[in-house]
Parts: sequence; C-alpha cells; structure tokens
Amino acid sequence: MRIDIVTIFPEYLAPLRLSLVGRAVDARTIDLRVHDLRAFTHDRHHTVDDTPYGGGPGMVMSPAAWGEALDHICGRRGVEADDGAHRPTLVVPTPSGRRFTQATAQEFSREPWLVFACGRYEGIDARVTQHYAGRPDWNGVRELSIGDYVLAGGEVATLVMVEAAARLVPGVLGNETSVLDDSFAAGEMENLLEGPVFTKPPVWRDLAVPEVLLSGHHGRIAQWRRDQARVRTADHRPDLLH
Ligand code: ADE
Repeated sequence: MRIDIVTIFPEYLAPLRLSLVGRAVDARTIDLRVHDLRAFTHDRHHTVDDTPYGGGPGMVMSPAAWGEALDHICGRRGVEADDGAHRPTLVVPTPSGRRFTQATAQEFSREPWLVFACGRYEGIDARVTQHYAGRPDWNGVRELSIGDYVLAGGEVATLVMVEAAARLVPGVLGNETSVLDDSFAAGEMENLLEGPVFTKPPVWRDLAVPEVLLSGHHGRIAQWRRDQARVRTADHRPDLLH
C-alpha cells in the first residue's frame, strides 16, 4: 500500500516512523512518502494561503500549490499506463467531512494508494476537491472528520486515519486474530466495546483478577467477556446498543 501525505509541517508526521506503522514502513509493506507543500510554491516567502473571498476571519489555503503537489504525486502517466487499479484516492481531513469510522479504516486498508491533504487555517480552497473529484486518473475524494471537535489542522487526523487503516493491512499486526475482538470490529462482538483486560499478578494492591479468568473454562470465560462488553457498552456508549 502506498501512502502520500502533503503538509506544511512534515515533522508532524514523524510518529509514523515509530512502532507498528514504522515497522510496516521498514518492511516495505507500506510505502510512506511525506511531502512539504511549500516545496510546490514559487514565491520568495513560500506562501500557501490568502484571504477568504467574501470576507471573514482567518486565511484559506490557495489552490495553486495543492494542484502542483497532487499532480506531482500522481505523476504524468499516459492513459495506457493507467489500468485503473493504481489510481490514488484523495483524503482530505476536515471537521466538515463525513465521519471516519472503523468501516472506513477497513475500506482504506484495501486501497492500493491513499493521498492525504492536510489543510491548516480555515481549510483548502474548495476547487481543489472539486477538481480531483472529476479527474479520471484519481479514484475520487473523501472529505472525512475524525470526530465532533476542531483540530488546528489535518495532520493529527491523518495520523489517526493512517494508524487505524495500517493495522488492518494483512501482515502489519503480528497476531491476525486480535483485530477481530477490537472495539467496533465486525464479528461476534459487533457493536460492543471491549471489556476490561487483566494480566499477572493475580492480586495487585488488594485487587484480585476476576475468578473466572483463572478458571481455564473457555466457555465461561467467553460468556463473561460478552457480559462485560455489554455492561461497558451500556455505561460508556448506550447509543451503540439497539
Ligand atoms: N481538521 C480539523 N479538525 C478535524 C477533525 N475533527 N477531523 C478531521 N480533520 C480535522
């Protein structure tokens, strides 16, 4: 899977070189390329923004540098080279996007090529998404929000989406079965949050691990986990119970 990220703060994406995603990058399971948007400007100050048409506070990111950066990433491939299988999907993190969920992460994990456009300030000139949505050499545009709060830019949202998708790419996680019990994963525990987990020692600061987990009785343990998942979901996320 190839992932390109365009940002005015390339250092913000450094955590992707660590841990699980970092190992997938080292193993070349993920081809990660981070680009500085300012490298695609031509003025002395490397300007990427301007005042909004119609007035209002803040600045808007200009379309010119975005167009150059995204065209550079996609490359100039002739129609004959485009078999349709390797077209990039443009992902634009924005609080006004559709909600990014575990289902979106699953879809992303099956994409051959994702390009993230990290906006800052009041966002990116709307003609950029409009243009790439209509480009036959691109696989569409996804404007996505990671939650109902406003971040300072798309970088942190990109970290969230890349990590959520990357861990679902086959071979990235050591234990393939562990993603099945994740909170929000489809499967037996569909729509339930994961319950509490324990490890050694059996007693810590007068707190004992629930008896059933030490019993070795797989049926009772599975039943206990299902019950705990329901209790936790009712407490933390009643909206998930139908
Ligand atoms: N940029 C700023 N806030 C955001 C959010 N909640 N989700 C995605 N991108 C964002």
